[in-house]
This record gives sequence, structure tokens and C-alpha cells, in this order.
Amino acid sequence: MRPPDYREQRIIADLPVTLRTLRPEDRAIEEAFVRALSPTSRYLRFHNALPALTPEMTERFLNLDYPDQMALIASVPDDDGERQIAVARWARAGGEIAADLGIAVADDWQGKGLGTALLKRLLELAATAGIEQITANVLYENQRMRALARDLGFHLASRQDDPHTLLLIRSAGDHG
Ligand SMILES: CC(C)(COP(=O)(O)OP(=O)(O)OC[C@H]1O[C@@H](n2cnc3c(N)ncnc32)[C@H](O)[C@@H]1OP(=O)(O)O)[C@@H](O)C(=O)NCCC(=O)NCCS
Repeated sequence: MRPPDYREQRIIADLPVTLRTLRPEDRAIEEAFVRALSPTSRYLRFHNALPALTPEMTERFLNLDYPDQMALIASVPDDDGERQIAVARWARAGGEIAADLGIAVADDWQGKGLGTALLKRLLELAATAGIEQITANVLYENQRMRALARDLGFHLASRQDDPHTLLLIRSAGDHG
């Protein structure tokens, strides 16, 4: 099912930022957003050195099957119309209880509270969608994501199969 049309206007770092549902028509700005991420941010998000989204990832990221999948983007106006500056999404495999979280903020927007604002809203939308648990695989050294998640009520669990990665878990009812 197509996700609901969510949209709000926020002031972040003294600038008006739109938070809204990602749409299939957003292919160009979503691809440009990932291409423009620094290698470090891309590595922290995808855990590999991929320079851009593969065609398969683009299809999967844009064509959301709600309530199992949902994505919110943040954008600002620019010369070409609109520039995507962040995205946060969940995806739940069929039959699973937990949905997997992914989030990335453009490098020049990091550390301004945007990731917190976007994730807070995504978690509220997940609760509305009946998602019972959200998990995220985070690289051990990703202190910023660990701090953000802890503030929003996630618990940390180590992964026996991968000592470089931590699992963040948040159940419906857990709050920061
Ligand atoms: C992780 C990420 C999504 C956070 O978004 P952000 O907009 O930069 O985060 P915020 O500005 O909302 O800050 C979140 C919190 O991180 C913490 N933080 C900030 N800098 C930190 C640092 N250097 N070390 C530890 N914690 C830090 C703070 O608690 C901060 O909250 P505060 O500013 O209110 O004190 C973003 O930095 C990002 O896209 N990183 C690359 C991709 C990635 O790591 N994705 C997560 C994979 S699951």
C-alpha cells in the first residue's frame, strides 16, 4: 500500500526544512543525496564503500509498501527546486515483528538536530503504523548514532556474529 502523505515544516539551524514522505517521483533527489554523502557517512550508513545506490536499491528505496516500509525525507529549496538533506526509513520483512531502521543526514547538515527531529517523527509514524519493534545495525564506532538512539529510547545489544556492529532495539512503549 502507498504510504500516507506526511508533510510538515520545521525550523532547523534557523532555516525552514520540509519533512515529508518519500515518493517514487523523488528518484533524482534521493540518488543525488546518496551520491553527495561523504565516503565516511556512506560507510556508516551502508557499512560498505558503495559510491552510489545500485539500481536494485533505488527501486527498493523508492517503492514503499506501507506499513512494512516507510521513508521520510528532509529537504530544502535550492536552484534546481528541492535538495534532499536527510532520509530515515524502516523496512520490515514479511512475517517479522521488527522493522530495520536506516537513517542518513547530509554531511553539511549533521550535528544540527536534524537527525533527531527526523527520527523522532519516524518513530511516531511507526507507532501509528503498528510497528512493534525497530532495530538498527550500527557500527561500533558510530558514537553519534549511538547517542541519538539512546536519547530516543533504544537499547544496545552486542551481536555475537559481528563484533564491529551493535544492534539498537526499540520496542513500542520505549521512550527517550
Ligand atoms: C547519525 C546521524 C543520522 C545523526 O544525525 P544528526 O543530524 O547529525 O544528529 P543530531 O544533530 O540530531 O545529533 C544527535 C546527537 O548525537 C550526539 N552527538 C553529536 N555529535 C557527537 C559526537 N561527535 N560524538 C558522540 N555523540 C555525538 C549528541 O547527543 C547529539 O544530540 P545533541 O546535539 O542534542 O547533543 C548523522 O550524523 C548521519 O547521517 N551520519 C552518517 C550516517 C549514519 O551514521 N547513519 C546511521 C546508520 S544506522
